[in-house]
Amino acid sequence: MQNILVVQSSALGDASASRSLINDFLAAVGTNANVATRDVGENPLPHLSGATLGGFSGADSPEAAAERALSDELIAELQAADVVVIGAPMYNFGITSNLKSWFDRVLRAGVTFHYTAEGPVGHLSGKRVIVVETRGGFYSEGDGKALDAQEPHIRAMLNFIGITDITFVRAERLAISPEARTESIAAAADELKKLGAERFALAA
Ligand SMILES: Cc1cc2nc3c(=O)[nH]c(=O)nc-3n(C[C@H](O)[C@H](O)[C@H](O)COP(=O)(O)O)c2cc1C
Repeated sequence: MQNILVVQSSALGDASASRSLINDFLAAVGTNANVATRDVGENPLPHLSGATLGGFSGADSPEAAAERALSDELIAELQAADVVVIGAPMYNFGITSNLKSWFDRVLRAGVTFHYTAEGPVGHLSGKRVIVVETRGGFYSEGDGKALDAQEPHIRAMLNFIGITDITFVRAERLAISPEARTESIAAAADELKKLGAERFALAA
């Protein structure tokens, strides 16, 4: 049975499109996988501090040790996953600061990547990632594309720790009109359903 780690990062609770798209996907995957959830939208992680960075470099104060333990816990969740499903709303052209805080704690030198003379080497290869991106506007084509600081950033951070099998599912135009929102969410749900069928042997 596959292990799925879900990372939710919307601050919108039940009104979140990414949260409900992923929850519907999980309901379908249900019996075919072990699912663990880290919801940094509902339970935000603190931003990095001096104690966090001290913890990463081995400092032994109680604060640094607690920060290191939190990072260790988040990394262990990621290491245990075969598949990671990330809910990534667009806030101000990029990812939410809560999701950034999660990445800041799992991209850790000497643990999830290391540097060599030839460049960085990621330690988490072999995992598959599905990213559900929700956006009020439209960034897939045209003028908006240059403003997308969300998808390239997520891809770069995952690549950096060795994860290259990434599928982005976009629900866009969510703020344009109720009709556009409904249509876009339905299309994203369909795409997720197909992924479920292909990757988790669910009926499409
Ligand atoms: C603080 C904030 C900033 C946002 N910035 C953008 C933005 O830059 N571009 C955009 O298309 N939508 C933006 N939106 C709209 C969200 O992307 C949209 O509401 C999306 O549905 C949120 O994701 P969720 O429904 O999964 O929570 C913003 C929303 C919030 C709350």
